[in-house]
Amino acid sequence: MKIPGELQFMVNARMVQKTTAARMDGRVCVITGATSGVGYKTAKCLAQGGAHLVIVCRNQQKAAAVKQELEAAFHTQVDVILADFSRLSEVRKAANFLLANYPHIDVLINNVGIHNTRRTLTEDGIETVFAVNHLASFLFTRLLLPRMLESTPSRIIQINSEGHRFGGLDINDLNWDKRRYKGLQGYGASKIAQLLTVWEFADRLKGTGVTINAVHPGEVKTNIGMNNGFFYRLYNRYIIRWFLKDAATSGSAIYYAAAAPEMAEVSGEFFNQTIPEKPAAHALDRKLGKKVWAISEKLAGL
Ligand SMILES: NC(=O)c1ccc[n+]([C@@H]2O[C@H](COP(=O)([O-])OP(=O)(O)OC[C@H]3O[C@@H](n4cnc5c(N)ncnc54)[C@H](OP(=O)(O)O)[C@@H]3O)[C@@H](O)[C@H]2O)c1
Repeated sequence: MKIPGELQFMVNARMVQKTTAARMDGRVCVITGATSGVGYKTAKCLAQGGAHLVIVCRNQQKAAAVKQELEAAFHTQVDVILADFSRLSEVRKAANFLLANYPHIDVLINNVGIHNTRRTLTEDGIETVFAVNHLASFLFTRLLLPRMLESTPSRIIQINSEGHRFGGLDINDLNWDKRRYKGLQGYGASKIAQLLTVWEFADRLKGTGVTINAVHPGEVKTNIGMNNGFFYRLYNRYIIRWFLKDAATSGSAIYYAAAAPEMAEVSGEFFNQTIPEKPAAHALDRKLGKKVWAISEKLAGL
């Protein structure tokens, strides 16, 4: 039976995923949001592979626990930078610290992500999910680009989502002032915006030795959404979780994107874990992408 293109992602989700035996010894890998779920499992894979990790996290206690655990288990270095990615000022501070203290960065993994069922605004006045999932990763990447360019061959990985298929991006109403906020679409909007900028980054980085790709990490058991109300948490914990895989599969997929020699020159692609995939049409609109790029620059103060 021929599967319609728009549903291919369901098939890809069930495919045997690629793995790599390549090691990352001494390679400097910056990963955001490594205290839970996908980011934590990815950090574990990277540490196991010998990488020198820099974890950018908002919770000092959780970050210290991850550092202690990974350093003890894998005898590699794990540095911690504290930053709340809902504040653009803290994204800038984290990037400036990295620029001042890390002369070389091999891999940047923008993993921090949230899902809110209710609309809130950050202190910068931006809808929170858009600010955290897209704008923070956009700004962080832009600020670190000079270092990635000095560190070639280097790789940037944006942790995206099949949730981009939910739609929701309206560049004339990024803050949902004119529409009733819907959590799935708010999440979708942030992931579409991120994907559209991945194609723009990839074009600008062509031939430089810096690659950028987007990875959907699979549908996995994590803490995402657990900041929402009681009923959402109940639904998540007792119903949704039955259908989800262990986040270790995400860690392995992202490790593949970071380490596999066959990924060294691949750029500007969307991966369903490790399988290249065509995103939804609305996330391939390059004219819209240029507008999103310009708006993101303005909002991020670039
Ligand atoms: N889980 C899935 O099935 C799934 C599917 C598709 C895509 N994804 C994507 O995978 C990525 C990771 O999500 P996850 O599922 O692993 O969720 P998670 O378990 O909630 O982990 C999210 C990570 O981001 C951090 N974080 C959240 N808000 C932050 C902020 N304002 N500043 C700094 N750090 C912040 C969290 O820190 P704390 O530990 O302090 O909360 C945590 O380390 C996201 O980009 C998400 O969209 C997940």
